[in-house]
Amino acid sequence: MTSPTASPGITRRQCLQGAAASLLPLTAKSAATDHITLRFSHVVAEETPKGLAAKHFKTLVELRSAGRIDVQLFPNAQLYGDHNEIQALQLGAVDMVAPSLSKFGRIGFPEFELFDLPFLFNKLSDVRRITQGPLGQRLLNGLRRQGLVGLGYFDNGFKQMSANRPLLQPADFAGLRMRVQASQVIAAQMRALGAQPVNLPFSETRRALATGVVDGTENPVSNFWTQRMHEVQSDLSLTDHGYLGYAVVSNQRFWLSLSVADRSLLDQALQEALAYGNTIADSQNDNALLALSAAGTTHVHSLNASQRARLRQAVEPVHSALTKRIGESWMQALQDALARSIPGKP
Ligand code: LMR
Repeated sequence: MTSPTASPGITRRQCLQGAAASLLPLTAKSAATDHITLRFSHVVAEETPKGLAAKHFKTLVELRSAGRIDVQLFPNAQLYGDHNEIQALQLGAVDMVAPSLSKFGRIGFPEFELFDLPFLFNKLSDVRRITQGPLGQRLLNGLRRQGLVGLGYFDNGFKQMSANRPLLQPADFAGLRMRVQASQVIAAQMRALGAQPVNLPFSETRRALATGVVDGTENPVSNFWTQRMHEVQSDLSLTDHGYLGYAVVSNQRFWLSLSVADRSLLDQALQEALAYGNTIADSQNDNALLALSAAGTTHVHSLNASQRARLRQAVEPVHSALTKRIGESWMQALQDALARSIPGKP
């Protein structure tokens, strides 16, 4: 289900701005003296791994360009939300976005949903086998099909489950309406647990939880805490059942309009900001968990090994059931990349 305001189109003014930008000849490269404004839009709070990485990027770029390149950040979906930020990027209404990897399937890149497979990664270093290897690069290169430039990946972390009851075993999910991102893999995961997935934009999730439109959700704790979901969910279960990460994406037309030197400055700053984001992601989630526990509104539940194994077993069929959607060759490449991560294996 999508709420009535879930998929607002781009306004006419924004379309015109985008159209005007798209009339720029590709040969009109920025010069070392040109003032450039780069609009970076995202949907989460500033004090999250993504918000802080974006701020770090802004600081580095403005410092290194001596203020010539102005990075304007638009957090909290204040300009665009999940359902239109990539469209806004394609139209040139913004220049950079960082959607979660789960949000590329619905715009024609179902192979990105491989990151959503439940219990796929045991630790963040497993994720690196994909994001820093040839498979990750191939995924980013594919974005060119829609005029997008994939510039890099970074982490939020592992997702936890929340509701107004503990979610420790499959039976606990029975009948719950769980808000999910627009990923068919995540929807299948919720169904496998006996819940009903409800696709809603991130910016509408807290209200939907507060009003009972949905009963629960999943996210890393930093997103849960900064959206104040703890005020409307009595229980948070530390399931670590899936990974949430991001890809930073620009518009090819904008990117190619930059001089080689500016592109390199931006790319270098971005790679450093993403590395910075990865170093703080864990501590942001840990700090959010401490703050949440101190707030005392939400019971935090750890799962024991057998509870986690039962959840894992319940969602196992999602891997084969969704192979067709993700693509057999992508799934094979995923297995190969993960197998290479096991010490002792060729
Ligand atoms: C969500 O929609 O749940 C998250 O992916 C939001 C984000 O970008 O972290």
